[in-house]
Amino acid sequence: MSARKIIIDTDPGQDDAVAILLALASPEDIDILGITCVAGNVPLALTSKNARIICELAGKIDVPVYAGCAHPLGRALVTAEHVHGKTGLNGPDLPDPKMPLQDGHAVDFIIETLRAQETGTVTLCPLGPLTNIATAFEKAPDIIARVGEIILMGGAYFEVGNITPAAEFNIYVDPQAADIVFKSGAPIVVMPLDVTHKVLVTKARNDAFRALNTPVGTAVAQMTDFFERFDKEKYGSDGAPLHDPCVTAYLIAPQLFSGRQINVEIETASELTMGMTVADWWGVTDRAPNALFIGDVDADGFFALLTERLARL
Ligand code: BDR
Ligand code: CA
Repeated sequence: MSARKIIIDTDPGQDDAVAILLALASPEDIDILGITCVAGNVPLALTSKNARIICELAGKIDVPVYAGCAHPLGRALVTAEHVHGKTGLNGPDLPDPKMPLQDGHAVDFIIETLRAQETGTVTLCPLGPLTNIATAFEKAPDIIARVGEIILMGGAYFEVGNITPAAEFNIYVDPQAADIVFKSGAPIVVMPLDVTHKVLVTKARNDAFRALNTPVGTAVAQMTDFFERFDKEKYGSDGAPLHDPCVTAYLIAPQLFSGRQINVEIETASELTMGMTVADWWGVTDRAPNALFIGDVDADGFFALLTERLARL
């Protein structure tokens, strides 16, 4: 099978960075048409800088990187420096990027790419708030039918919220955008906290990154070292959850994951539960399924794949 053409839409973020590195290390499986950046973990100026820092760390300076939306559709931006640090990539000491941002807006790149490529051949991989994707769908509704699949990190059901008691960060930051995407009719695969909290960087897994003894291996070990303190304190867990790499690992090895085709709706009205993913896991409504909601993963298989791929960079 030829490599899947994807656009990574992202707000790096240490876990976004690992997701991007995994994709960059896997050209036989993944063809990255471009990386589009959005405000989320940190403001847009930093996410669009961090994406380029990661490409340069991997020695892949030809990947086009675009800046997109700086603010959610209808709300003030909420960021997550309390998790990711001031830069969004705290941990390793990485140089400022030399590669430029592309001219033009990320949203236009998404629209033009979907129109230019054969229908159904482009997969969108959102790793942050869904502002860029929803804006593209609103601006050019013709592209929705051209999307092959959307594989996104966001939401939660059994794990409920990590930014409010009810909501996961990516969906909470821009619930209106998430609502547009989940109602779009495009095929969606969701990596919620229910699965991402099962891929934890334990000490042994972190040691395996460090033992690669490469700039990438060392940086990933340092990033996950930094990123783990938040989840260890909050959940008492064994290490940093690799949320966003679930998306790129799924592209390479979907057999590692399992879930259910269910209906997922987004709460956009109640301040109390704003951004909640109301997931009909038990099929208690007659609402039509609109997403494959992942619930389980072979974590050892996931880390074996990730470490083997990172070793190539
Ligand atoms: C998601 O929010 C961000 O902090 C992470 O990068 C991930 O995309 C997890 O809730
Ligand atoms: Ca992210």
